[in-house]
Amino acid sequence: MAVQNDAAPWLESLLDRTIAPGYSRLGFYLRHSRWPSDDPRPDAMRGRTALVTGANSGIGKSIAAALAGLGGTVLLGVRDRERGEQACRDIRTAVPNADVTVTLCDLADTESVTQCAATLGDRGLNVLIHNAGVLPAERTETADGHELTLATHVLGPLLLTELLKRPLSTAADPRVIFVASGGMYTAPLAVDDPEFRDGHYRGATAYARTKRMQVALTPLLAEHYAPHGISVHSMHPGWVDTPGIATALPGFHRLTGPLLRSPAMGADTAVWLAATHPTPPSGHFWHDRRPRPEHYLRRTEYSSEQAGRLWVYCRRAVGLESAH
Ligand SMILES: NC(=O)c1ccc[n+]([C@@H]2O[C@H](COP(=O)([O-])OP(=O)(O)OC[C@H]3O[C@@H](n4cnc5c(N)ncnc54)[C@H](OP(=O)(O)O)[C@@H]3O)[C@@H](O)[C@H]2O)c1
Repeated sequence: MAVQNDAAPWLESLLDRTIAPGYSRLGFYLRHSRWPSDDPRPDAMRGRTALVTGANSGIGKSIAAALAGLGGTVLLGVRDRERGEQACRDIRTAVPNADVTVTLCDLADTESVTQCAATLGDRGLNVLIHNAGVLPAERTETADGHELTLATHVLGPLLLTELLKRPLSTAADPRVIFVASGGMYTAPLAVDDPEFRDGHYRGATAYARTKRMQVALTPLLAEHYAPHGISVHSMHPGWVDTPGIATALPGFHRLTGPLLRSPAMGADTAVWLAATHPTPPSGHFWHDRRPRPEHYLRRTEYSSEQAGRLWVYCRRAVGLESAH
């Protein structure tokens, strides 16, 4: 991994800690202008297949377009076929000859996740990007009885990764990437109440908690899949102008409008993690192509015992481990 010629350390630290400028398009421009030329090669994805969840909109659609532009075969994992087909048409318009197809996958539905993995069969999969995200207005449970953000951001992705272990491990240089969020910096690890049953439910809090879980589980997943040659990464895209942010956080969207990153800027680090060479080190949290701290607040720190307990809870919740 090339790490020379970064933004000056003081500038990196300032951008990280002041949040607003760093996560806006300003942070992207400041860092981007100082990056070394470690862009993925123009054909970096040639002969490689990627599955991107939530790829019919926003950052996911941009990731899918960028990977197709690098020559990859891209499967758009979506829960609505028509929205997925529309995204394929849009991507083909932007990237002529893009090799993109729809694969149905509702991350909040165990049956759909299982079906999606079965559809892929033993076909090799080089890249799996967990991008699907949701910020609900009120607490809802899935058909499987799990709180919606937990199911979408954590349980569905864990199950899908495990069910795709074989297609991933038989492919060259397999990588799994979580599109997490800097929102997780405010959240401790909710290991004692992962389903958000206690206290006043707020969608933004549930969102931040489950994004924290994605980041906390990344090193454990990295260790778990290392023997299979699969690397695991999580990243923060910055603040990005997408349909999701406009709908879920209209006030924030209005306030920050011109400062928000474009979906392509938000996609950049996920695409880089998927396609750069050599493979970035596994188990870290990334933003703007560099590993970033997992905590800025003492109150969000957790022990490895707590992370381990969450790991066991989540694996049991999707039937990957039995209770005894
Ligand atoms: N935008 C930002 O500033 C920002 C910042 C930090 C992190 N993120 C993360 O970036 C990711 C993409 O968000 P976005 O801003 O691009 O929002 P978006 O435009 O709303 O895209 C979210 C995508 O996730 C899909 N999705 C939601 N629930 C799903 C499910 N159960 N199964 C399958 N797909 C599902 C949506 O599909 P439908 O069209 O069917 O609803 C949509 O395609 C999310 O994980 C989000 O947390 C975004």
